[in-house]
Amino acid sequence: MAGAFGTVFMPEMAITWFDGNGWSTPQMVASDSIPMHPGAHVLHYASTCFEGLKAFRHDDDSIHIFRMDKNIARFQHSSELLGLPAMQTETVTQMILDVVRKFASEVPEPPGSMYIRPTHIGTEPAIGKAAAPSSTSALYILLSPVGDYFSGSNSTLRLLLAENAMRCAPHNGMIKSGGNYASALQPILKARESHSADQVLFCPDGLVQETGAANFLLIENNELVTKPLDESFLHGVTRDSILMLAKDMGLTVSERELSIEELVERAQKSDAEAALSGTAAVLAPVGTLLHNDQSYTVGNGKAGKLTLALREKLNNIQWGKASDDKGWLVKV
Ligand SMILES: Cc1ncc(COP(=O)(O)O)c(C=O)c1O
Repeated sequence: MAGAFGTVFMPEMAITWFDGNGWSTPQMVASDSIPMHPGAHVLHYASTCFEGLKAFRHDDDSIHIFRMDKNIARFQHSSELLGLPAMQTETVTQMILDVVRKFASEVPEPPGSMYIRPTHIGTEPAIGKAAAPSSTSALYILLSPVGDYFSGSNSTLRLLLAENAMRCAPHNGMIKSGGNYASALQPILKARESHSADQVLFCPDGLVQETGAANFLLIENNELVTKPLDESFLHGVTRDSILMLAKDMGLTVSERELSIEELVERAQKSDAEAALSGTAAVLAPVGTLLHNDQSYTVGNGKAGKLTLALREKLNNIQWGKASDDKGWLVKV
């Protein structure tokens, strides 16, 4: 496996088409192209959503998918909010299992994994449907083997706190849709250029929300603080998992609004830690916050102890090194 995260693909994918009345029988097809009209709804009006989940190899070479039910539920919700055809949970589950089984021998060993990318797009050739959903669609499951996100380093991220930028329109936050990532791009590019920031932490109305592709957590004085679920941001499966593990570890988990003022004040305490959560990186430590041309070091600026402990706990379950007592894994 070579190349940047998500640039290597398995040669086949599972696909099914909705023709306006029903879904075709899922098939395994070459993953390098799909036949699509240049006027397809998705190419003009962004009727697209996707998921990101992982399959892991255990010591006995069995393969396990992490929290597939949660990801499929979010996929269905995204599709519904985009007006895309409804899909059966059983069909998507079977398609994922079939394609992962087919390429089971290609699932990397930990810390690598097989990244699974279910995708649903509106295919109707209809450039006059700017204000109407696509009546046809394609749903496919791509696979991409990925390596260690951290490559052995525990370097920390620099986040620019942005109260005057939005990742996406607030009513679209829960949809894992391409348009939301396009919408976040300009603020992120500007933050990289002007502040050498790695990511933007969007803080509409001065309240901490999320970054372009991850949720945000602050840990200080035995309290883990993260934004409560609402429709303005993506409900991360990693966030949900980490919150459960943090409660098990005895941390106080507070799902509540966090103002920039509170974040900046508490981040400077010696025991403070901050992290981004997401499927790709699990938990990525944050070392620096940038706000109003000031730079604030989070805790001692290094990866936090609790952050690393939580990451290890989650990885150990995923890698079959700790018991999966929450029933998060599905054996392929
Ligand atoms: C905008 C956004 N927020 C949060 C997340 C984290 O979600 P998850 O933990 O389910 O990967 C992602 C990653 O997919 C994302 O794109």
